[in-house]
Amino acid sequence: MKKSLLPFHLFTFSIFHLFTFLILPLFIFCAAAQAQEANYDENKVGVYTLPDAMTTLSGQKVAKKKQWEKVRRPEILKLFQDNEYGVMPDAKVKTSYRVVEESEDAMNGKAIRRQVEIAFSGNGQERKMLVLLYMPKGVKKCPVFVSPNFQGNATTTDDPAVIESQYSTFGRAHQTSRWSFERIIDSGYAIATFHYFDIYFDKDDKLAETIYPLFGINSKAQLQENTGKAITAWAWGCSRVLDYLFTLKNIDKKRAIILGHSRLGKTALWCGALDQRFAMVISNNSGCSGAALSRRNYGETVPRINTSFPWWFCNKYQSYNQDVSSLPMDQHELIALIAPRLVYVASAQEDRWADPRGEFLSLQEASKVYALYGLETFEGCSFPSVGEHLWRGNCGYHIRTGVHDVTDYDWQSYIEFAKERLGE
Ligand code: GCU
Repeated sequence: MKKSLLPFHLFTFSIFHLFTFLILPLFIFCAAAQAQEANYDENKVGVYTLPDAMTTLSGQKVAKKKQWEKVRRPEILKLFQDNEYGVMPDAKVKTSYRVVEESEDAMNGKAIRRQVEIAFSGNGQERKMLVLLYMPKGVKKCPVFVSPNFQGNATTTDDPAVIESQYSTFGRAHQTSRWSFERIIDSGYAIATFHYFDIYFDKDDKLAETIYPLFGINSKAQLQENTGKAITAWAWGCSRVLDYLFTLKNIDKKRAIILGHSRLGKTALWCGALDQRFAMVISNNSGCSGAALSRRNYGETVPRINTSFPWWFCNKYQSYNQDVSSLPMDQHELIALIAPRLVYVASAQEDRWADPRGEFLSLQEASKVYALYGLETFEGCSFPSVGEHLWRGNCGYHIRTGVHDVTDYDWQSYIEFAKERLGE
């Protein structure tokens, strides 16, 4: 009987052809299709018209700060609440503080370390967040950074006394490069951080495990069109940390700063818009639905972010996926809500997904509102070169080399800017 098997050289030949002519081209085609989803060509950004931050819904030009504060600012805030980030459910939760650990001898004696549990209760449920706080020793009134972390408190430092956050799945000291704690302390600033999962899991279908059940919301079906989700909840968490910090004598209530990176940069901007106790707001590489203009078709887009992260924004935001230009506001107006307080937007050269130019243009447009307060704006400034600091009045911008990240260079810039503008 004849063997029906292919001779070995024919067999290898056909495998080779299968790979070269079918699998490889298919792979290249898929990769190209994926890359095509995001536009990185400035020539293809398209023409867009931004809503005017300085014109009220009834068509009046805003010329005075009183008109801005009484009419236009509340209008814009509501537009963001109704169409993008949503509102926190309206219910009271009980809050209590418990110092879990404290040392006067942190960072070789330079700092006080305090770990505080903030417990929330409501609707028969309880949730806890763990705050890690470092304060410089011997400073009577220190400015403070509030900045949520991605991976858990113990990942931010190699300090062995730091307690692991309840939902952290990362090892100790896993992300220390993002936290310039020594520089912060040496500059006379305090820093408070918490794991953002303590407030709202960064996942879909986890609503019941977030803080929302405290407000009587246990399932997605209970969410209104304008109920906030993760970003609004994280912003709420940052404000609760500030409530605690303001109970401390040595924290300067006039110099609280919120800083967030990426999705937490979006959170920082939104929190800074809502909570005017923050004297300075820092958006580090916040990108789409953060600092970057939504109407610019570059990098991540609104339909894309709504598809990948539907649990970040209110349900209504989805309705703009087909036509982003129908959004009644754009992200420069989010930044404008921070006026006249300090705002700093930072980009990274290789972080094209976050659209660095779109982040800058947005801040530039927002800076016009600062003129109502007699402050300098970015009028006439062109996009700065990499490594240059563009600081005007109460607005700061830089684009550094490198990728999507928070680096010591970023921290150094924020601290210098804050020292110059908020005082030593
Ligand atoms: C993704 C997302 C961004 C977000 C980033 C992050 O890349 O598309 O919008 O800013 O994650 O949070 O790291």
